Amino acid sequence: MNISFLLITLITTIKCISSQSTINEECSIANKLLQKDQTYNCCQEVTCSDGHITKIILHINSIKPFSIPPEIGNLANLKYLHIRSNNLNGSIPPELGNLLNLEYLLIRGGNLTDSIPPELGKLSNLEYLSIQGHNITGSIPSSLGNLSKLKELCLNSNEITGDIPPELENLKNLEILKLSSNKLADSISPEFAKLSTLKSLYLSNNELTGVILPELSNLSNLEYLDLSYNNLTGSIPPELAKLTKLKNLNLSNNNLSGSVPKEIQKSNIKLYIANNPLLETKSTNIKLIIIIVLNIACLIFIVLAVLYVFFKNKRNLNYGNDERSNISDSASSQQYKTNNNNAVCSDIIIKSNI
Ligand SMILES: *[C@@H]1O[C@H](CO)[C@@H](O)[C@H](O)[C@H]1NC(C)=O
Ligand SMILES: *[C@@H]1O[C@H](CO)[C@@H](O)[C@H](O)[C@H]1NC(C)=O
Ligand SMILES: *[C@@H]1O[C@H](CO)[C@@H](O)[C@H](O)[C@H]1NC(C)=O
Ligand SMILES: *[C@@H]1O[C@H](CO)[C@@H](O)[C@H](O)[C@H]1NC(C)=O
Ligand SMILES: *[C@@H]1O[C@H](CO)[C@@H](O)[C@H](O)[C@H]1NC(C)=O
Ligand SMILES: *[C@@H]1O[C@H](CO)[C@@H](O)[C@H](O)[C@H]1NC(C)=O
Ligand SMILES: *[C@@H]1O[C@H](CO)[C@@H](O)[C@H](O)[C@H]1NC(C)=O
Ligand SMILES: *[C@@H]1O[C@H](CO)[C@@H](O)[C@H](O)[C@H]1NC(C)=O
Repeated sequence: MNISFLLITLITTIKCISSQSTINEECSIANKLLQKDQTYNCCQEVTCSDGHITKIILHINSIKPFSIPPEIGNLANLKYLHIRSNNLNGSIPPELGNLLNLEYLLIRGGNLTDSIPPELGKLSNLEYLSIQGHNITGSIPSSLGNLSKLKELCLNSNEITGDIPPELENLKNLEILKLSSNKLADSISPEFAKLSTLKSLYLSNNELTGVILPELSNLSNLEYLDLSYNNLTGSIPPELAKLTKLKNLNLSNNNLSGSVPKEIQKSNIKLYIANNPLLETKSTNIKLIIIIVLNIACLIFIVLAVLYVFFKNKRNLNYGNDERSNISDSASSQQYKTNNNNAVCSDIIIKSNI
């Protein structure tokens, strides 16, 4: 009995010591990122579980620029890596591609340069990938198309060039794709129509060319589509009206031509088309005519009302002094009614301006 008791204590002690030593090793890596000295117990700031670091959430406002240590790639149990800082420099270490358990990767608010390492395509458990607002150049690695669990891909506000790799069509779980404010060129591939889970597609502020593909109408879950500030040409495909969940469609600041399809005008889609010099906007002309006609009608009504009151007053004056109080009452109530009509008129103008 004593021996077995001893054995158990021994085993747990060894376990404890070994897990302590792995956590010490892992902490010495994390401490570089946390900007602490090597002996600091990092588990006070990051999440440790079963002797491993599993989650790092770091918000640092640092005076000195600092870079992401490549050794982070050794934290094999890391599931969650979130770094927000005002002063990151250097590049994204390709070693991050070794974090095979990673589900969430966000790096924001720095001055990271160089391109996105293709090694990130190995992160087969990744669901969220967000590297926004840096100075990342190069093109989007086609290997990102291997991230089959990805739900959100946000690489907006960088200096990324090249095309949108057609391999992204393999992202069967993607709901949000935000690549706006980069320097992406070329046309959007029709293969994109396969991203049937997509809810939000933001591609504004790039240098995209070509036409808006009618195939985009296959994205039946789409709620937001922003293609503004590009160099898109051709007409607006009426098929987009099939997107019954679409709320906002921003096509402003392109070079679209033709007219706005009736189907889209009739739908519930909020359409933004400003600054497309070649686009005919017949509908706005019709609206303008309606406003003018309504205004003229109102004006005529007011004039008639005033004339009516004027002549009635004139006639009533002939009836002597007894009824004078009555007269002013009816005149003021008439005036109140015309004022009210004025309010309806300007309401119509306000509403149709919106
Ligand atoms: C990025 O770097 C440039 C110079 O390389 C510097 O002027 C700028 O302040 C930096 N921005 C941030 C957000 O650190
Ligand atoms: C980041 O900035 C620090 C401090 O200015 C500098 O020592 C380091 O070389 C920079 N790293 C990179 C990769 O530019
Ligand atoms: C990108 O770099 C330029 C100059 O190198 C700098 O002015 C700019 O602030 C940087 N952008 C970001 C988001 O850091
Ligand atoms: C990942 O993507 C690349 C480029 O698209 C491809 O060559 C490679 O075979 C893919 N790897 C896996 C494991 O699917
Ligand atoms: C769009 O959907 C239709 C009908 O479901 C299908 O026949 C067509 O191949 C799809 N197009 C693309 C580009 O996925
Ligand atoms: C759009 O295309 C025109 C003509 O090809 C070109 O001059 C212009 O620079 C382009 N604009 C953008 C924002 O790419
Ligand atoms: C496009 O329009 C939508 C709706 O108003 C707006 O939220 C979005 O910011 C616009 N996009 C750009 C790039 O201005
Ligand atoms: C718009 O398209 C027309 C005709 O294709 C072209 O001549 C013009 O340069 C384009 N404008 C811009 C701003 O891209």
